[in-house]
Amino acid sequence: MASVTLQNLTKRFAEVVAVDSLSLSIEDGEFLTLLGPSGCGKSTALNCIAGLELISGGTILFDDADVSRLEPHERNVAMVFQDYALYPHMSARENMSFGLKQQKIESAKIRRQVEIAADMLDLGDLLERRPSELSGGQRQRVAVGRAVVRNPSVLLMDEPLSNLDAALRVRTRTEIKRLQGELKATTIFVTHDQEEAMVLSDRVAVMRLGELQQIGPPMEVYRNPRNLFVASFIGSPAMNFVDVDVARGEEHFQCSVGGQTLALPADLVEGALPDKAVMGIRPTDLMVGAERDLSLKGEVFLVEPVGPVTYVDCDVGGMAVTAVCDPDNAPVIGAQVGLGFSSSRVYLFDPTSEQRL
Ligand SMILES: Nc1ncnc2c1ncn2[C@@H]1O[C@H](COP(=O)(O)OP(=O)(O)O)[C@@H](O)[C@H]1O
Ligand SMILES: [Mg+2]
Repeated sequence: MASVTLQNLTKRFAEVVAVDSLSLSIEDGEFLTLLGPSGCGKSTALNCIAGLELISGGTILFDDADVSRLEPHERNVAMVFQDYALYPHMSARENMSFGLKQQKIESAKIRRQVEIAADMLDLGDLLERRPSELSGGQRQRVAVGRAVVRNPSVLLMDEPLSNLDAALRVRTRTEIKRLQGELKATTIFVTHDQEEAMVLSDRVAVMRLGELQQIGPPMEVYRNPRNLFVASFIGSPAMNFVDVDVARGEEHFQCSVGGQTLALPADLVEGALPDKAVMGIRPTDLMVGAERDLSLKGEVFLVEPVGPVTYVDCDVGGMAVTAVCDPDNAPVIGAQVGLGFSSSRVYLFDPTSEQRL
């Protein structure tokens, strides 16, 4: 396997800058996910790495070798797509063997490699079946198997789980994570699903409009979002955002939220404080009735049990926020509740630049 380095990778389609000066490196054996909303340039970036798109600028290195101008087959990458793209008239075994046969590898060796991969992917009994005789999850596992038997330098996956129903998506995701861990395959995975990205990745690269917003381990990006976009994109249900007025004091500064004043520790913000800010709190950090160093009062207007927790939507001075409560102790609609939260879980953003303060 190889490390991958992108230096100012840029791809334009006429006026559209699909990937805008993307720079990042992926270590040998690392699982990196490109995460972002539809149209942010994830697939284009992946296709550039595979050599399926000519790049408009920048450099792509595999280890120390510049592969920017190489043909796809010269890069030794393997790709897995959303729609499996298996040959319908071939069995799972033939599909998985196809690339190796083209490389003129001897058939005993092909057989061995395919069987090892099939074992890892729990496909042992299904090798003689055609794609039409397999479920969606099994087909996608064959597609993954076909990619890994070639022992590629880099494994590229573009939304491979998107066509699967929810339960299967979670199961196949587990298989992919286990397989990647066993193979130590340098993997670049594309998804718009933040949970998928969090679960699978060593590091997540969040993209928006072709630009890298933040890159880091999942919990780092979750706990320490650099800007409002990353804060809003990662985490489910999404972070609450409320407009606040800010006044600087000595040890504390005052944040007024819909007529209620919070005293936040001065060291929460490093630089200068603007008069107005956007305050972010995750629903899971905002607990109905909890004793914390901060609290807000609100009126309940919606109660949504999901099992392990119940979400409670409250009106706080005219602003809607989602909090969590103990499912066995949920308030009723119309109840006045206190929402406790910790100042260490408060995020403040500049309303203009949208950067974290
Ligand atoms: N072949 C193409 N021709 C013109 N525009 C394209 C082409 N492929 C992608 N784009 C544009 O580039 C941007 C990024 O697309 P894409 O990489 O497919 O996003 P994602 O995979 O994140 O959904 C979008 O604005 C899309 O419309
Ligand atoms: Mg895409």
